[in-house]
Parts: sequence; C-alpha cells; structure tokens
Amino acid sequence: MRRLFIAGNWKMNLDRGHSLSLVQGLVESLRGVSNVDIAVCPPAVYLGELGKALHGSNIGLGAQNAYSKPEGAFTGEISCSMLKDVGCRYVILGHSERRAIFGETDQMVNEKLHAVLAAGLTPIVCVGETLQQRENGQTQQVVRSQCVGSLAGLSHDQMLKTVLAYEPVWAIGTGKTATPAQAEEVHQDIRNLLESHFSRETSQNVIILYGGSVKADNAQELLSEPNIDGALVGGASLKLDSFEGIVKAATSIKK
Ligand code: PGA
Repeated sequence: MRRLFIAGNWKMNLDRGHSLSLVQGLVESLRGVSNVDIAVCPPAVYLGELGKALHGSNIGLGAQNAYSKPEGAFTGEISCSMLKDVGCRYVILGHSERRAIFGETDQMVNEKLHAVLAAGLTPIVCVGETLQQRENGQTQQVVRSQCVGSLAGLSHDQMLKTVLAYEPVWAIGTGKTATPAQAEEVHQDIRNLLESHFSRETSQNVIILYGGSVKADNAQELLSEPNIDGALVGGASLKLDSFEGIVKAATSIKK
C-alpha cells in the first residue's frame, strides 16, 4: 500500500516572517490529517527555525538541495548531516531548475542521492522532459535515462526509501498542468522501468509524485490516477489555503 504524499517546494520564496506564519497555519489546519504524508521544503536559511515550529506535528521538513560530500572546503554547500541536524527528513534532488540553471547532471544527482540515503534522509528525486523533448516524442527516452542515471547503484532497499517526482518542465510554474492521462502514462512507464531494474514488488511500492502546476482544483483528478502517489507543489505551496486544499483533496482519495 502506497500512502499519498504531498510536498511543498517553496523554492527561493517567502521571508522569515511569512515562512513562520505559513508553517504555523499549516500545523494548525492540517493537524487532523493522518492518511496522507505531508512535507514542506523551505529555503535552507529558515530550516532550523521552521524545524522547531514543526516539531511534534504531522508535517515533515525537507531541504531543496544537499551536497554529496560529508564536510570540507565546499564554500556555500550544505551537507546531509547538517540538514538532519536541523530536523530535515526529506531532500529534493535534481529539480529541473537545479538541472537547467545550476548544471546538475544525473551523475551529480546520483552522488547526492547516495549521500542523502546514507544519512538516513528521504530523497525526492525529480525527473521530467522539456516541451521540445515532448514535442519530439522523446518523453519516455528522456525520463527513463534520467531515472537510470540518477538512480544508479541503488539496492532494492534504497530504492524503496527513495521518492520519485515526475515533473514535466513545461508544466512547472506555467499554469499548464499535464493532463491526468499524460502524467499517468509517464508514471506507469517509470514503474515499468523500476520493475525491470529491481522487481515487481519494489516497483509497486515506490512513491512517485507528480509536479507541475498542481493546484487545489486539479489535485483530485491527478491524484486519482492509479500510479500517481502524491504531488510536489511549487507555487500553490506558498499560500495556506491552496496547500491546505491540495492536502485535503488527497485525504478524500480512496485507491
Ligand atoms: P509549480 O512547481 O507547482 O509552481 O509548477 C512545481 C515544482 O517545481 O516542483
């Protein structure tokens, strides 16, 4: 049985005061939710303070990035043990913005993934095609190759501890959501790939999120698809009402 999981990726948004009041509002309004896993991934500078505000709640704390090395002369980077130290449970890896703007490759994502798992944190590994790749009919090939490269060297057990997020680049922050059928097709294909690299049982137990313009009013139809196990939410995670609406939509889904 896969539990639905809704994670908010705040990206480089919200100041300290708004971050704190959003987290306090979410703790209050989502207190009673027990059938859906929930996380927020704020900017790194606020993690420590927000970790304290989330302590004892049903909302997990996640980072948007981590570095693969444990310590040393890596100016500007943050290690997995530092993230753990301030209360993180999750780390987003290989988001398309990190791939496109900061030049992260599958190999870099893979090194980070091994470090995150070794630290006992839960990685959320993002994959997804650009509009041009979709229009060229390369979606399956691109997503499969990102999965193979990013997930290289994982044991079955590590694969089961890894969350995947399919985020078509053309749907991120654009208001253009993939249709439930388009998303489901890719999720099903990722599961087929996992079956061939691991086992049927492993493939059936990995959580695969959809991301790209998920909102309170389209969450229900996306999350109802059999292979969509939750959402990685950008813009709509920055406001209490909209993130709450997405989590509440998830609570009502029976699969
Ligand atoms: P969006 O972002 O919901 O604003 O499209 C999703 C993401 O980048 O994770």
